[in-house]
Amino acid sequence: MTLLVTGGAGFIGSNFVLDWLAQSDEPVVNLDKLTYAGNLANLAPLERDARHLLVCGDIADSGLVRELLARHRPRAILNFAAESHVDRSIHGPAEFIRTNVLGTFNLLEEARAHWDASSLADREGFRFVHVSTDEVYGSLGPEDPRFSETTAYSPNSPYSASKAGSDHLVRAYHHTYGLATLITNCSNNYGPFQFPEKLIPLVILNATQGKPLPVYGDGRNVRDWLYVRDHCAALRLVLARGRPGEVYNIGGGAERENIAVVHEICTILDELRPRPSGAHADLIAFVKDRPGHDRRYAIDAAKIARELGWSPATRFETGLRETVRWYLDRAEWIRGVQSGEYRNWIAKQYAGTAT
Ligand code: NAD
Ligand code: TYD
Repeated sequence: MTLLVTGGAGFIGSNFVLDWLAQSDEPVVNLDKLTYAGNLANLAPLERDARHLLVCGDIADSGLVRELLARHRPRAILNFAAESHVDRSIHGPAEFIRTNVLGTFNLLEEARAHWDASSLADREGFRFVHVSTDEVYGSLGPEDPRFSETTAYSPNSPYSASKAGSDHLVRAYHHTYGLATLITNCSNNYGPFQFPEKLIPLVILNATQGKPLPVYGDGRNVRDWLYVRDHCAALRLVLARGRPGEVYNIGGGAERENIAVVHEICTILDELRPRPSGAHADLIAFVKDRPGHDRRYAIDAAKIARELGWSPATRFETGLRETVRWYLDRAEWIRGVQSGEYRNWIAKQYAGTAT
């Protein structure tokens, strides 16, 4: 028994692999292209662990995927690999289409061929879990009901459009070919190993380094935050007991305006690492809004609660405090990720955005 995990050197994927191998001896083959977002340091505890095999490669490489499936005969594929940052998708959508749409298509094609050629018993047990986002549903108004599994797709960014495209393909491979696919649409994650281009780690690092804390627009956009390890727990359940062909929404039940999240991080830092020159909140800087910025995301996670008994175990306040502490204790990891490519991105993204 083996799992093929894609994108397992990124934020959620590495948390998943570490948690998986902490609870199970089932080996993991981890296919990751090691883009700017993939980081071997996340997997350092597994360096000499025979249960983990890292393969540096592209999900869009059909020869490589075919060979991995033939050699390791995984009982499941968990597809985390993606370009994942909305702002980058605005600057350069092509890579999002290539990896998220064409890469997922390639994985599905290879999975289908592998599955077709498997024994009846192996076919029955096989699962393809596609890790997706709530952003495919578009944007909610303040009074709108939360996203459910039947909410119509209405993606607004190149990122969410590319994830929506991949979701549709995954769904089609179940309906057309009978491949046992499952789709999860999850809300914003936060926690250890998140690349500091995303709001929470960006604000923690900028604050500790005395840099401005950029808040887009009026700061009142709402996200529904989920601690990453709770997401990983939900994925393990979906793999174990989810019904093939089904979609499961996963959410934190923790809707917060961005400005409230930023203030909360500042308050934690004021306590844990006070600034001699004033409160961390003094660093908040409202900047030009993101084009097409979705106003609100919120997940109705009733289905996964009812069918699989999952609910988030970590309160936002607790998870955020743990996350801040994690970044405060990881000077070396931070030095690694804040190297050249990161500096180029920050210079490009935030140049001339002050309002
Ligand atoms: P991430 O950007 O941190 O990591 C993505 C990983 O995929 C990296 O390790 C990267 O090297 C790898 N990768 C990229 N292109 C690849 C390719 N062509 N072939 C193989 N590997 C490739 O992303 P994340 O935040 O960990 O997100 C993982 C998945 O979860 C994504 O599919 C994302 O859409 C989804 N998701 C993320 C969130 C969130 O808040 N971060 C929420 C819901 C869903
Ligand atoms: P982000 O972490 O990029 O996730 P997503 O866009 O996928 O939700 O952003 C979370 C929210 O924070 C989103 O409303 C945009 C906002 N944001 C800022 O206000 N400033 C920033 O510097 C960043 C990166 C995001």
